[in-house]
Amino acid sequence: MENIRNFCIIAHIDHGKSTLADRMLEYTKTIKITENQMLDDMDLERERGITIKSHAIQMEYSLDGKKYILNLIDTPGHVDFSYEVSRSIAACEGALLVVDATQGVQAQTISNLYMAIDHDLEIIPVINKIDMPNAMPEEVEDEILDLIGCDPEDIIRASGKTGEGVPDILKAVVERIPAPKGDPEKPLQMLIFDSIFNSFRGIIVLGKVVNGVVRQGDEVKFVQTGMEYTADEVGVLKMDLEPRKTLSTGEVGYIISGIKNATEVKVGDTITHVDQPCDKAIEGFQEVKPMVFAGVYPIDPTEYENLRSSLEKLQLNDASLTFMPESSQALGFGFRCGFLGLLHMEIVQERLDREFNMEVITTVPNVSYLVYTKQGEELEVHNPSGLPDPTEIDHIDEPYIKASIITSADYIGPIIKLCLDKRGELLDQQYISGNRVELHFMLPLGEIVIDFYDKLKSISKGYASFDYHIDSYRPSKLIKLDILLNGEPVDALSTLTHQDNAVTLGRNMCEKLKELIPRQQFDIAIQAAIGAKIVARETVKQVRKDVLAKCYGGDVSRKRKLLEKQKKGKKRMKQIGNVQVPQKAFLAVLKLD
Ligand code: GTP
Repeated sequence: MENIRNFCIIAHIDHGKSTLADRMLEYTKTIKITENQMLDDMDLERERGITIKSHAIQMEYSLDGKKYILNLIDTPGHVDFSYEVSRSIAACEGALLVVDATQGVQAQTISNLYMAIDHDLEIIPVINKIDMPNAMPEEVEDEILDLIGCDPEDIIRASGKTGEGVPDILKAVVERIPAPKGDPEKPLQMLIFDSIFNSFRGIIVLGKVVNGVVRQGDEVKFVQTGMEYTADEVGVLKMDLEPRKTLSTGEVGYIISGIKNATEVKVGDTITHVDQPCDKAIEGFQEVKPMVFAGVYPIDPTEYENLRSSLEKLQLNDASLTFMPESSQALGFGFRCGFLGLLHMEIVQERLDREFNMEVITTVPNVSYLVYTKQGEELEVHNPSGLPDPTEIDHIDEPYIKASIITSADYIGPIIKLCLDKRGELLDQQYISGNRVELHFMLPLGEIVIDFYDKLKSISKGYASFDYHIDSYRPSKLIKLDILLNGEPVDALSTLTHQDNAVTLGRNMCEKLKELIPRQQFDIAIQAAIGAKIVARETVKQVRKDVLAKCYGGDVSRKRKLLEKQKKGKKRMKQIGNVQVPQKAFLAVLKLD
């Protein structure tokens, strides 16, 4: 046990965690790097260049003639995936805090650092990308010293590109991060921090053995669910799964027990022995509470049950996703899903498509509201169409976040204006170093989920970073805005909005929908309404030309091709009443300028 080191890499998005992790794997000869980014192994991660999932991998490393086992967990940087970070942290004794030498300390650097400090992790600060011509290692060093109050010599300078500093990092991991504690003689306690669905082997559970030892063939059970299984295979995580006879205290590894049903495994649960159980589960991590909700509906209504099982499997690998059945007049049967943010929602939609071949329509996202009725009831509402009758509502509370924005002083003015436009309140501002400022705001979460992040990036030319946590629920003057197509209200397009913005939003949505809904065989009236009052209207004129007219009657194969093409175009279209509505239209409200 004294030769084990469990550590994670935390940083702000794009500061180079995955690249640095790859260099460490290369240096320790764990894998031969053939191309960049071995750890971001999901296609989606490679394409987008972001880490979505945490990845665990084991390395062997020798220092002064002694052999060490290093378990490294690479974590995502985007705020939507910070839950992944918190779970990784729970399995580690130390963390590399990576800061980009050209960008300095950013919003998620700070929030991830606090998370690591809360769990008493030993922090090793690393300034990365020192090879870049615009690197400012001295300034960044000052920022780190201010932030964690360490000695300057504790900070390692490195480059994930050239590999400089990587040997120093590995040495520091062994010398500074404590070995895991725990008692091999005690009953088994293995903390599950992740799980993967594999269609051949069933569910692979990843965890850290906090106390005791687990052997292949042991009878084990999950403390919270009480379900019992045989540990058919146990092992460690190299580039692939590597079976072992045992996993003992302090080790990070996996168990396969042929579990096929996704709902039986809960990330955060503890595994123990059936015949000599531990007396309680390890304090895992807080359950996350999704704050952004949207309807997810199969394009093909007969795929409803498949969508359910796909969501269950996805949930295994993404414990922050929640869902429950709902139905919509416009879209039929589907699920109300809870997400941590918009990027998370996009990623879930893409993973459903790629990993499960499920084509879905997602509706306009909204946050979770607390509705107080005149009878004194308190209801949590995740869907505008689930609101009680307006005459029964006493008031509605909406979630507020406390946001931290770090930016160069040049952009303070436009950023404050943006936040005030979003109904925000400036709490304070302070200089962190030289020209850089940290601003704190209170903002309604509902205003953030729409298009805040893109706007912030564009007004600051990319020089602002943003992090937030939920602060409180506060009363707000919210009203429901409905959209009607040819006179029929489309429940999936309803939104809750602040009353001062409702008419403008209605007008903008009608205009946007007019652009997005293709012309059809008849005129389509698009209207926005508050209660019975129509506040905006647009019309999509009928098509005049018959698409087949240009085929001169006879050419059958050309005609068929054209029809095929049209059919393809109809993918991700949903028939509402007699109107074909494309997926993009359901998200129109997100893209308003
Ligand atoms: P997320 O996990 O998505 O937050 O990103 P990350 O922190 O893992 O960053 P990643 O390793 O994907 O690197 C981000 C970008 O910086 C990539 O384009 C890398 O090629 C580049 N990069 C990373 N490290 C270095 C470095 O030391 N020097 C230079 N010049 N570029 C680097």
